[in-house]
Amino acid sequence: MPRKSLSVAVCGLGVVGREAARLLHAGRTRWGARLGVPLRLAWVCDRQAAREAKALGLPAAVRRTADFRDVLADPAVDLVVELFGGLGASHDLVLGALKAGKGVVTANKMLLSRHWDQVAAAARTGGAPLHFEAAVAGGVPIIRSLRTGLAADRVTSVHGILNGTTNFILSAMAHGGASFEDAVREAQRLGYAERDPSFDLNGTDAAHKVSVLASLLAGRWFPPQRVAREGIEAVEAGDILWAVRELKRTVRLVGTAVVLRRGPVPLVEAHVRPTLVPLLHPLAGVHGGNNALLVTAEHAGDLMFYGPGAGAGPTASAVLADVLAAAGELLAGPGVGDAAPSSGGPCRAADEAPAAHYLRWRVKDVPGALARIATVLGRLGVSLARVHQDDPPGGGRPVPVRLVTHVAPRALIERARKAVSALPIVSGPHAALRVWPD
Ligand SMILES: NC(=O)c1ccc[n+]([C@@H]2O[C@H](COP(=O)([O-])OP(=O)(O)OC[C@H]3O[C@@H](n4cnc5c(N)ncnc54)[C@H](OP(=O)(O)O)[C@@H]3O)[C@@H](O)[C@H]2O)c1
Repeated sequence: MPRKSLSVAVCGLGVVGREAARLLHAGRTRWGARLGVPLRLAWVCDRQAAREAKALGLPAAVRRTADFRDVLADPAVDLVVELFGGLGASHDLVLGALKAGKGVVTANKMLLSRHWDQVAAAARTGGAPLHFEAAVAGGVPIIRSLRTGLAADRVTSVHGILNGTTNFILSAMAHGGASFEDAVREAQRLGYAERDPSFDLNGTDAAHKVSVLASLLAGRWFPPQRVAREGIEAVEAGDILWAVRELKRTVRLVGTAVVLRRGPVPLVEAHVRPTLVPLLHPLAGVHGGNNALLVTAEHAGDLMFYGPGAGAGPTASAVLADVLAAAGELLAGPGVGDAAPSSGGPCRAADEAPAAHYLRWRVKDVPGALARIATVLGRLGVSLARVHQDDPPGGGRPVPVRLVTHVAPRALIERARKAVSALPIVSGPHAALRVWPD
């Protein structure tokens, strides 16, 4: 029987959920007119549902609960918007809703990346729409572009700046010469970074997004544990300033997903790496907390997507667009590209494409130090394109030594990092940056 109206539950009234609930309720007449049937906010669910609903000025007709099982148990709910985040309740809510045939909109990259197969299988079982635009790059409509805008094409790779926090920090270090620690503090003060920013800084958040993108591109799950990753914790302002001056490049945390082979077990290269990008490259022009994705498709060629990757407004905009898309599907059936993501076993992770690397260690200011490093690298077969030793800082403090290798497999670079770091003349952490090919 055709539906006469659609009821939506927003679960999680935090940064994104509050704005999504507000926009959904405030725009209900407009959305209803577009869909041809009334669309109403039926439930809000949050530990502080009553308090938040009051602050949002929601009428009593919008039911409040702290227990998401109330939402699942209500057969009148057509669509669940999951904005709890994390893996606990969100997992049960999303799977429960999909299996019950309720549509789901989620912004939860952690849940999708870790449980892609389960979520995809539940969406197929329930035959209900599943949308997750806000899970990657917040307000930038990348998921919809990949699923529907490029539905007639084959997307072979995505390279992106997928974490606004780290991009803000790298931008602050490059432009103001701020130290890593000061840039992190500034990001926290301005709300770009959480109190514990480790998931952003160590590349975990970006790896979740790469996992989602890789799974979408390959049509099979690419688990986040297989996304090779390195964060920006070891990057210093001195690395960036030297690279800008000497190599005409700057540092960006780049997430990469490349489909090398399709089929039942696709072969995919996926990683997150601090990368030296040429100053004239589009990714180098992405500053502050913004996100950007460079998409390559067989026929469309290179496409660039750019915009705010987080924040209440941009993310809620993406969530609302998903609500409308899911509502449209519930009324009229899925469109091209709307089909549930495929499940059926994971992709194979390919070796990382060989690349030149910038390596920086701090080395005791003693005669022959540079030669000892060069000897270790030579023995391993790592050949060098550039070698630079900074002026000694004085006071017996170690000197930064900066090297740029020729193109080499990552495994070899890892062996070189280990071997040089073990030398007694080397102290403290070191930096390793992938060099984007010319
Ligand atoms: N913030 C952004 O800019 C942004 C951008 C893109 C994507 N996202 C994604 O959007 C989702 C939501 O993010 P957010 O920043 O809005 O998170 P948030 O501010 O922490 O909001 C989550 C809300 O859900 C509540 N909640 C969590 N588990 C619950 C449960 N079991 N029962 C009842 N209430 C529960 C939380 O209550 P407590 O605080 O009491 O736990 C909180 O009020 C996440 O998946 C995130 O990755 C966020």
